[in-house]
Amino acid sequence: MKQVPTVAEMKAACRQMQRIGKTLGFVPTMGALHEGHLSLVRASKARCDVTTISIFVNPLQFGPSEDLAKYPRPLERDVRLLEELGVDLLFVPCVEEMYPPGAKTCVVVDELSEKLDGASRPGHFRGVATVVAKLFAIVRPDFAFFGQKDAAQVAVLRKMTNDLNLDVELVVCPIVREPDGLAMSSRNAYLTAEQRQQALVLHRSLTRVQAAFHAGERDAAKLIEAGKQIIAQEPGARLDYFAVIDPDTLDPVAGITRPTLAAVAAYVGTTRLIDNILLAK
Ligand code: PAJ
Repeated sequence: MKQVPTVAEMKAACRQMQRIGKTLGFVPTMGALHEGHLSLVRASKARCDVTTISIFVNPLQFGPSEDLAKYPRPLERDVRLLEELGVDLLFVPCVEEMYPPGAKTCVVVDELSEKLDGASRPGHFRGVATVVAKLFAIVRPDFAFFGQKDAAQVAVLRKMTNDLNLDVELVVCPIVREPDGLAMSSRNAYLTAEQRQQALVLHRSLTRVQAAFHAGERDAAKLIEAGKQIIAQEPGARLDYFAVIDPDTLDPVAGITRPTLAAVAAYVGTTRLIDNILLAK
């Protein structure tokens, strides 16, 4: 695996692959890799000739009171995992390389960026859209792989890709979970053993809602109420939102007539966790 720290070298390496007709798969990450990330790498390997991945903890998408400084950065371990999987190119730029002094351009996906996680994390999706647009411009992937775990991120990036006529196909991969149901996340590393147990309430609330849906409940307000009740039973968790939404517009729906997302965000201690499940027949 070739490790590339600069934009110029990354562009050159990608263009070289493309010149000889290789399809390029790209997996953008912030590192601290787990099976969720690795599932995206495997999906890319299965579909593309060349798989590229980026590890960049993007300061632009962290709020002032968020965890930028303490975000885990186990680079050596990440590199080993990616080498084992046979990744071809790893882009690991520093902050100054991605945002040289004087950079003034941002990508904002209006409205969508203020919904769901965007409502609780002002500026977050502006940071995500900006860095992903830059990464797409550097790599120019044929396919880019994202996790369903970050459902709002998927909606924002789909809109950005369409609106900016970018020649990349987004591939969305299913949420990878621990055996007990907890959605894998780099932030799970912040949880104490007790909080790790408390965090299971997110998945429990979603499976409760899914069971009600399968039993015939189609009223979104009733489904939300059922989900909130489960969260309320866990004193260690503080609800941010429980929403039943259209996966593309992220708007709340009143009744479920087509595939709809149930999405939850909650704080366990100071760690904000998210999860979602698709309600479909
Ligand atoms: P990060 O949180 O590192 O996630 C990188 C990718 O892995 C995202 O597409 C995310 O949805 C996916 N992912 C995380 N946990 C997953 C799980 N349990 N199952 C399946 N996929 C999972 O998301 C980001 O980084 C950043 O916002 C980024 C897109 C890299 C822009 O900075």
